[in-house]
Amino acid sequence: MIKTKEEINGMRIAGQLAAEVLEMITPFVVPGISTEELDQRCHDYIVNTQNAIPANVGYKGYEKTVCSSVNQVICHGIPNKNKILKNDDIINIDVTVLKDGWHGDTSKMFTVGKSKPHNERLVRVTQECLYKAIEVVKPGAFLGDIGNAIQTHAESNHYSVVEEYCGHGIGKIYHDEPQILHYGQPGTGLEIKEGMCFTIEPMINLGTKYTKTLSDGWTVETQDGRNSAQWEHTLAVTEAGCEVLTRRKEERF
Ligand code: MF3
Ligand code: CO
Ligand code: CO
Repeated sequence: MIKTKEEINGMRIAGQLAAEVLEMITPFVVPGISTEELDQRCHDYIVNTQNAIPANVGYKGYEKTVCSSVNQVICHGIPNKNKILKNDDIINIDVTVLKDGWHGDTSKMFTVGKSKPHNERLVRVTQECLYKAIEVVKPGAFLGDIGNAIQTHAESNHYSVVEEYCGHGIGKIYHDEPQILHYGQPGTGLEIKEGMCFTIEPMINLGTKYTKTLSDGWTVETQDGRNSAQWEHTLAVTEAGCEVLTRRKEERF
């Protein structure tokens, strides 16, 4: 579970490639595009420009490069040529790049066209949940501190935290131990140690926290049909705090 400086170098390269996929796709996320086209552009970029591997392809039978989760879809939305983005949609694009045996896993939200304030606010507060969680990561803190930071910020904004899906250890294995819960009590759970690498990927709902999975076996939606947002980063724990391996240029930590 603890990685050396050299192993974290490999993770940094994979993480940067994943971040660059999200940067590349950003200008294409506009009304009228299909989620299938977004997926194909990400696939081509990873395979032909980055000379890397789209880790989602073939993962437990999944066939696409990204997950594209629109509006009430919480996670694992499957790109589809008939799913055309429209004004005021919100969409999460989640991508994992595999490079030299290391995984980089990240996602971001996009508001499509001009969004209504309630959607903008959900997207912004969910990103704040991720950032507040990142701020607590350092050796000697506990995994429960991460969950608590997310839950406190979400609930103080009258949103709910999805409990069935969580962040995860990551490295040569895509979904490794430990589980990183997005709710919890401070000072509980595993102690964080230098050299750990894991994702934090809170899913925050406007309404109920309860989920349902569609008959395609992948798409996870809110039970009440209200919108959901998610942001994800892959981190490495450093001596003093953490390094955000999937940081995009627009972000500063
Ligand atoms: N990237 C997702 C995560 O954050 C997992 C997607 S698995 C897939 O852990 F098969 F749906 F792509
Ligand atoms: Co993940
Ligand atoms: Co992901």
